[in-house]
Amino acid sequence: METKLGDDKSMKVFEHDIEEVLLTHEQIQSKAAELGAQISADYAGSDLLLVGVLKGAFVFMADLSRHVTLPMEFDFMAVSSYGAATQTSGVVRILKDLDHEIQGRNVLLVEDIVDSGLTLSYLLKNLRTRKPASLEVCALLQKTGVQQVPIEIRYKAFEIPPVFVVGYGLDYGERFRNLPFVGTLRPDVYRDAVS
Ligand code: IMP
Ligand code: MG
Repeated sequence: METKLGDDKSMKVFEHDIEEVLLTHEQIQSKAAELGAQISADYAGSDLLLVGVLKGAFVFMADLSRHVTLPMEFDFMAVSSYGAATQTSGVVRILKDLDHEIQGRNVLLVEDIVDSGLTLSYLLKNLRTRKPASLEVCALLQKTGVQQVPIEIRYKAFEIPPVFVVGYGLDYGERFRNLPFVGTLRPDVYRDAVS
């Protein structure tokens, strides 16, 4: 089967697993730079706290934050949603909470992907009770047409069709987070996982 990894030799190692590259490394980098500049302008003069949602957001957050030209701090939360491997149930378990209070802080939540939106909706509700001065969302990806709850994403890098993707922080069974692009998996990768 033909893969669409292009001519980049370093991509060859992924060709058995990846069906199609949806977003190249270059596309993601240039969008991270654009959003970083926008965030730098919007938060100039205020104290910014980036909150990353582990594990998926760590790659995007690292790249995005290096395009933010402001003094700022970092914190992380780790969550897991109950339910099947590739679908969320909306019930979120906090595995690791923030290290610091956020009352009065300008919090920007960094997420990898908004699918049903249930995880993000739960997180926002939870964080709002802690009375931050402001609370906004920056997401690498939003799947179109599948949100079950309305979510306002202030800084959105890309919209993608509602397919399961991996790479650039996103996993399938904890694998593929290190791919430098976002892509879909070949069907036999799922089949191998079940058998
Ligand atoms: P939601 O609650 O349905 O919006 O899903 C949120 C979480 O599910 C994300 O933070 C991801 O960890 C995971 N997820 C949703 N879609 C994908 C995908 O296409 N690939 C990898 N993980 C995904
Ligand atoms: Mg995940």
